[in-house]
Amino acid sequence: MDKIKLLILPGDGIGPEAVDEVKKIIDFLNKKNCFSIIVEEDLVGGACLDKNKVPIKEETIEKAKKSDAVLLGAVGGPKWDNLPFEQRPEQGLLKLRSDLELFANLRPAISFEPLIHASSLKPEIIKDLNILIIRELTGGVYFGEPRGIEDIGNGNKKGFNTQVYTSEEIKRVARVAFELAKNRKKVVTSVEKSNVMESGKLWKEEVTKLGKKDYPEIDLNHMYADNCAMQLIRQPKQFDIILTDNLFGDILSDAAAMLTGSLGMLPSASLGAVDSTGRRAGMYEPVHGSAPDISGQDKANPIAMIMSFAMMLKYSFDMNEESDLIEKAVQNVLSKGLRTLDIKQKDEKHVSTKEMGAAIIQELDTLIGN
Ligand code: IPM
Ligand code: MG
Repeated sequence: MDKIKLLILPGDGIGPEAVDEVKKIIDFLNKKNCFSIIVEEDLVGGACLDKNKVPIKEETIEKAKKSDAVLLGAVGGPKWDNLPFEQRPEQGLLKLRSDLELFANLRPAISFEPLIHASSLKPEIIKDLNILIIRELTGGVYFGEPRGIEDIGNGNKKGFNTQVYTSEEIKRVARVAFELAKNRKKVVTSVEKSNVMESGKLWKEEVTKLGKKDYPEIDLNHMYADNCAMQLIRQPKQFDIILTDNLFGDILSDAAAMLTGSLGMLPSASLGAVDSTGRRAGMYEPVHGSAPDISGQDKANPIAMIMSFAMMLKYSFDMNEESDLIEKAVQNVLSKGLRTLDIKQKDEKHVSTKEMGAAIIQELDTLIGN
């Protein structure tokens, strides 16, 4: 069996405690010979700032490039909120995405049957929900130049960012959406604001052209981002794949996550292009962020982190069986009624981060047998 080199960047807030539960799963499955994963760890975000005065070191970026995949916890927290922009913990994450050219961010929102009452929406609206948001991750207003805050005289300032997309940037992420649609319902909804933004107009044109030329079998629809936000809450099951830009994807994926009951359930994969050897850079992280209000208290839900690891097995290493095994273990544990604080109903008891992790390992043990 090939040894897999995995770089883990726990980061800040609940990142490290959620990552700990994945490390235990890796140890367990290594021992069961399900795979052979060698873990290396490094600093990112506030944790790196405190030690090295930068949100990520160049040598960590190099390590990430040489690894077979990266697993990231979360970055940020109030401690670093007043730092200048370039030094904020988030810059460590954005630099990783950008330097590794992870342009396609996959954010599935899948409702777990035992949790449909944890959602703020009616059960029939979210039962069997399975949406995949594909968010462009290395372009748009997050990275566009010029950007800044400038004095414009008389004590007045101007803050500005640039929303910009090239045809190539649009086409490469659209291709990922169309390809994935082939193995799903063959429907893609492309989301922009082509009614007010030139970048949105180009987005729509390029996606339409590519769809007609290379993917005639895929049913392509277009929707304005504001309408999409509304439709996600009104009738989320009308969607299968949502393809959108960096900023709209950030917002819509948080909304989609809440459909499933909690942000603590949502994993993500950030992928680069496939190179000539068939390899593709991949970084996996939960959507939930660092949740400083509950960090260090053994309260966080480790499931999004664990499901991010399951996504890694599938998308980076074609280990569908092992990935399904972890998903199944999570399903079973939820079916048995185990809940962390974020997904429990009013009168339900809840378990800690560590207890949830341990229960998932115990379930894995049962599923694997012997
Ligand atoms: C996300 C987060 C990040 C983003 C932050 C932490 C920079 O909200 O991954 O959705 O805005 O992309
Ligand atoms: Mg976000």
